[in-house]
Amino acid sequence: MTTDLLAKARAYEAKYGSRITDAERPVYHVTPTVGWLNDPNGFSYFDGKYHLFYQYNPYSTTWNTMHWGHLVSEDLLHWKRLPAALAPSEKYDNFGIFSGSAITSPDGRHLLIYTGVEEFENEDGNCELRQTQCLAFGDGVDYVKYENNPVITPEMLPEGSSTADFRDPKIWYEEKEGLYYAIIGASTEENDGAVVLFRSPDLYSWEYVSTLDKGGNDYGYMWECPDLFRLGDTDFIPILPMKMVAKGNEFHAGNNAAYLAGIYDRETHTFTRKAIRSIDYGIDFYAPQSMATPDGRRVMTAWMQTPETMHRTPPGAKWFGQLTIPRELSEKDGLLIQRPIREIEAYRKDPVYYDEVFVKECTRLTGVEGRSLDLTVRVKPAGDALYQKFTIKVAEDEEFYTSITYDLADSMLYFDRTYSGFMYYIISERKAHVRDRGGEILLRLMIDTFSVEIFVNDGEQVMSNTIYTRQSADGISFEAVGGAAVIDVEKYTIEM
Ligand code: FRU
Repeated sequence: MTTDLLAKARAYEAKYGSRITDAERPVYHVTPTVGWLNDPNGFSYFDGKYHLFYQYNPYSTTWNTMHWGHLVSEDLLHWKRLPAALAPSEKYDNFGIFSGSAITSPDGRHLLIYTGVEEFENEDGNCELRQTQCLAFGDGVDYVKYENNPVITPEMLPEGSSTADFRDPKIWYEEKEGLYYAIIGASTEENDGAVVLFRSPDLYSWEYVSTLDKGGNDYGYMWECPDLFRLGDTDFIPILPMKMVAKGNEFHAGNNAAYLAGIYDRETHTFTRKAIRSIDYGIDFYAPQSMATPDGRRVMTAWMQTPETMHRTPPGAKWFGQLTIPRELSEKDGLLIQRPIREIEAYRKDPVYYDEVFVKECTRLTGVEGRSLDLTVRVKPAGDALYQKFTIKVAEDEEFYTSITYDLADSMLYFDRTYSGFMYYIISERKAHVRDRGGEILLRLMIDTFSVEIFVNDGEQVMSNTIYTRQSADGISFEAVGGAAVIDVEKYTIEM
């Protein structure tokens, strides 16, 4: 196998990608050039532009033989498609180029670090996979794999580590020490999820430093796609615990996206965990990756899909898989706060405002409709007539709707996409326990063609969801049950 696979992918996407019209895609969410997308990779700022790569199979709308797709942007919202950046070409990555990250190398090149997955036949004649960490250097368009790949192998892990599950390096540079660090997802032989830390003086020779945290067999068998950053006085380690059992209102059964909040001691390289929480309470959120913008913000995007629906491609789709809107991260009381990046404000059109609208029966407001929106609804108690439940329906017509219901009894926010155009029996409901504010709740809905992201109480919680309702279903309605509410509404159409 040679780099031919990359040339083939580039030729394929040039031909078939151009046949997908803008009208077939979301307005402001990233989709693959053609075919399949999962995790965001290599989210970075290089040579005056934001770069975003993604797990990519151009040839079909299902997961297979991972490549890296590539986009660039000046504002994190308007993305230009570049040719695919990486394809399998070597023995060590013959099964696929799995997730990874990017940084600028000391000599000014764009460095990608990824997991190479090798498929080989073991002594018993069975197929096995081996995951190692590999480098590729480039100019922002074309990348060349490092001749001495891989640079990190499972043999460098401490005894008792799994050699099959070791992937998704997230790299950064510690200025003070002049050293590169990478946090990598791992698992133990006892099937316990873990995150391990490696370091290098020069990007080429790496050593194992420490195991930052483990699940104690309580949080899945493997932790994929870790990240590490500090906000305020808290260090956050996003992880993906695979195959969990449900836990209270915090974690659903299956693969979760969680964050560990605590303190990472930069001298001893130990992490003291204070809390573990969900990053997003919606149905469709996985594999987040963050970066630091030149103006000092921490911005994160993620694959807006649950792995559970990866074989549920809508019939006739030419692409499958979207990324969330990039989110600005901050910390409040140890919580990870997420807000849509402020750059979205430049794309807001046709503002419509309503103040203090009394809502009881189903209410529609003139000008409040559409499928590409930034819509903020502040729900407040209507004096003594306080509601018990408040529902917003979006993507609505006579047959379909997607609903968001706030139930005061247990301060629970419910999302329901049962009537949102799916023709598969898939997960349709999720709930999130939100902070009780005595009947007041602030909901910012980022609606786009095939998705609804719900930012609750100024980013304290988020619920991200995809929908496949026909686009003509663009109605929005409000209803209070068991009493009344008063709402303020701020609506903008998003046009790119
Ligand atoms: C997460 C993940 C990663 C892996 C990639 C493969 O969704 O499973 O762990 O690198 O996807 O596409």
